[in-house]
Amino acid sequence: MGADWSVDSWRSKPIRQVPHYPDEAKLHDAEAALRAFPPLVFAGEARNLKDRLAKVADGRAFLLQGGDCAESFAEFTANNIRDTFKVLLQMAVVLTFAGSCPIVKVGRMAGQFAKPRSSPNETVDGVELPSYRGDIVNGIEFDAARRAPDPDRLVRAYNQSAATLNLLRAFAQGGFADLHQLHRWNLDFVADSPLGEQYKELSDRIGETLSFMEACGLTGNSVSQIRETEFYTSHEALLLWYEEALTRQDSLTDQWYDCSAHMLWIGDRTRQPDGAHVEFLRGVKNPIGIKCGPTSNPDELLRVIDILNPDNEPGRMTLVVRMGHDKVLEHLPPLIRAIEREGRIVVWSCDPMHGNTIKAESGYKTRPFDRILIEVRRFFEVHEAEGSYAGGVHIEMTGQDVTECMGGAQAISDTALSERYHTHCDPRLNASQSLELSFLIADFLKAQRVGNRKSIAAAS
Ligand code: PEP
Ligand code: CO
Repeated sequence: MGADWSVDSWRSKPIRQVPHYPDEAKLHDAEAALRAFPPLVFAGEARNLKDRLAKVADGRAFLLQGGDCAESFAEFTANNIRDTFKVLLQMAVVLTFAGSCPIVKVGRMAGQFAKPRSSPNETVDGVELPSYRGDIVNGIEFDAARRAPDPDRLVRAYNQSAATLNLLRAFAQGGFADLHQLHRWNLDFVADSPLGEQYKELSDRIGETLSFMEACGLTGNSVSQIRETEFYTSHEALLLWYEEALTRQDSLTDQWYDCSAHMLWIGDRTRQPDGAHVEFLRGVKNPIGIKCGPTSNPDELLRVIDILNPDNEPGRMTLVVRMGHDKVLEHLPPLIRAIEREGRIVVWSCDPMHGNTIKAESGYKTRPFDRILIEVRRFFEVHEAEGSYAGGVHIEMTGQDVTECMGGAQAISDTALSERYHTHCDPRLNASQSLELSFLIADFLKAQRVGNRKSIAAAS
């Protein structure tokens, strides 16, 4: 960390994608309240995640990051949190089995509220209001009072994040994530589909293996990995007043950690090397992601990495590539070559969502499932060709039976989108589309790992 960094040094840099708060005194009150609140995560946990991600960077594990595009106050229920968690566990089991490697699970949960927008304002029937920027900033309803940025929402988002995280910790460690329960993670509306069947077959096989291991004396009592799981949280570090107020100095190491989540990322629109978001994150020691869209160029990316990870610490940097299915073949190789040439240690993760958003004829914002899949497949192919490691996926999904992304085995059509379109921002994969995607990614992961073993065999 440069000597000139401080928790508020971002304030003197150019900043994008944040609201203008008309009532400054109220903003100060909200910041003061947050500063007095307990941290949501601990520095030691963020360090553990960094260790896990270092293994991913080294090709020995795989990252699964997923959750809502935007969490909302309206959809905050225990069942929603449980169901998203269930689907992430299912996906992780499918990937663990295929890849025979640990899956690092990171939710876009417990803090993923603030959204960058393509335009600061929205006009409807000649009326112009500030755009919706996520429930932590303003209300989604098209109404002048609701759209005004309100600092009290910062505190409400913190409280919701604390309660969400509390439940996630209980699920991860309190018996729910015990591998013996894996049949029960199948959601009712998925269970009867071909995918539900495929998952059931897999869980039966794992069940047999567990019985065998038990007979050998390896039980949940003796092996904690059978009984519980590690689950981490992440969100885009966009609203820097919130992030600053939750940034604390670790008493063990004296280093600064953003204790609002284990991992934070910088969005595609706020990754300027001299901007406020890069300035803020360079000083905290959490694992950091950077979104890399089609306008990312190798030199700028290297500059940002130099600023954020000058010591080339393994596990610190995750590059979340979100090019679009039609651009990834062209834009990803130059980034990989630059990173390899300069010897930078990174996790390469694929976000097949944000470059594949289209407007359907019905007017809904959607993402065709086959384009999502094509982007993932091409991501793996490019890494294979470049000799680098495709280390993870980053997706927007929910455990609910929504109709927001078109296609998949359920063949959701344009006209069906209106049936259950609930997202507060971008369209998410529903539970069965998420599971379906994980089986398909599992094939790529398996091929990659078999390939590795072959080349390891060839080398020795
Ligand atoms: C997001 O992850 O929700 C997002 C806005 O992504 P990006 O910055 O890649 O557009
Ligand atoms: Co999104």
